[in-house]
Amino acid sequence: MIVLGIETSCDDTAAAVVRDGREILSSVVRSQDAVHAEFGGVVPELASRNHVANVLPVVREALERADLDLDGLEGVAATQGPGLIGSLLVGLEFAKALARARSLPLAAVHHLDGHLSAAQLGPELVLPHPHVGLVVSGGHSSLFEVHRPGVYSLLGATRDDAAGEAFDKAAKMLGLGYPGGRQIAELAGNGDPGAVRFPRALPAPDTLDYSFSGLKTAFRRQLEERGRPADGSAALQDLAASFQEAVVDALLTKALLALEQTGHRALVLAGGVAANQRLRQAARDRLWDAGCEVILPPVELCTDNAAMIAVAGERKLVSGEWAGADAEASARVPL
Ligand code: KG4
Ligand code: ZN
Repeated sequence: MIVLGIETSCDDTAAAVVRDGREILSSVVRSQDAVHAEFGGVVPELASRNHVANVLPVVREALERADLDLDGLEGVAATQGPGLIGSLLVGLEFAKALARARSLPLAAVHHLDGHLSAAQLGPELVLPHPHVGLVVSGGHSSLFEVHRPGVYSLLGATRDDAAGEAFDKAAKMLGLGYPGGRQIAELAGNGDPGAVRFPRALPAPDTLDYSFSGLKTAFRRQLEERGRPADGSAALQDLAASFQEAVVDALLTKALLALEQTGHRALVLAGGVAANQRLRQAARDRLWDAGCEVILPPVELCTDNAAMIAVAGERKLVSGEWAGADAEASARVPL
């Protein structure tokens, strides 16, 4: 089945064409980073307006790159939620109109179902089920038990900030641009992760919930007490590396605990923070030591994209879970 996916849950406008939930024929992501950078975060009103301007050209580009016209499509999938409501509405309503006009089946996809389905587009031919899925993005840090494709139970989630949010806030405190995760990671590349000892932010030893607000406070205090290290200094790199290490350590400690508690042997990493190279390497090392497998989607499929939405959507369409014209975008919707 050839499915067009559309993703507009936050600030990126994305469209992709995927065949049989495995083969990416095209994937286009139009970033709005430049629009929001001067505000140090996403401005919802601007995000919606830019989605309106971008959605048609981005869909056209995805079709062109897939060398298809609308007749070649067999289904449409769009993100239903969670996310910014004004942003979600643009992609979902566009998909509804297209599906209606072309008499195509429509799938309304949960954004996290999309992220967790991205692993299906990696080199692994068959994902092991059940497994533990860790979604780490700007809005979520959640552990799921993935019983079979598309069937999830929540094991734990952040009680305050998401991991990506923590990266973005630390970057903002350092006066780096938005989004900050990648910039902290770049600075951290040459730094000493043991230079500053930050708290590991684990509320209680046996819970699978996360908390990153203590780390954020410790980071701010460090800057207040020691001052912001100069650009280009080793101290700045050490600070970034130490912060990154605290996030990575907290994420993996709970992920390993989830594997232990469930008895599952495989972990799928997903979401924008899963693009972080230190997290990917530490996950490989620590899961290897624990005798477990780690599945890492390609970096470009970790951050928001529409290929992952097409994959989750195709699964729904094949199983007959079609959305109607009454499908509504929802800012908060449980998986
Ligand atoms: O999944 P995503 O693209 O959008 C949401 O659904 O939120 O995730 C975006 C988040 C941002 O907080 C961004 O700073 C973070 O992912 N991120 C990273 C890296 N690349 C993106 N964080 C750490 N290291 C990276 N390399
Ligand atoms: Zn996302």
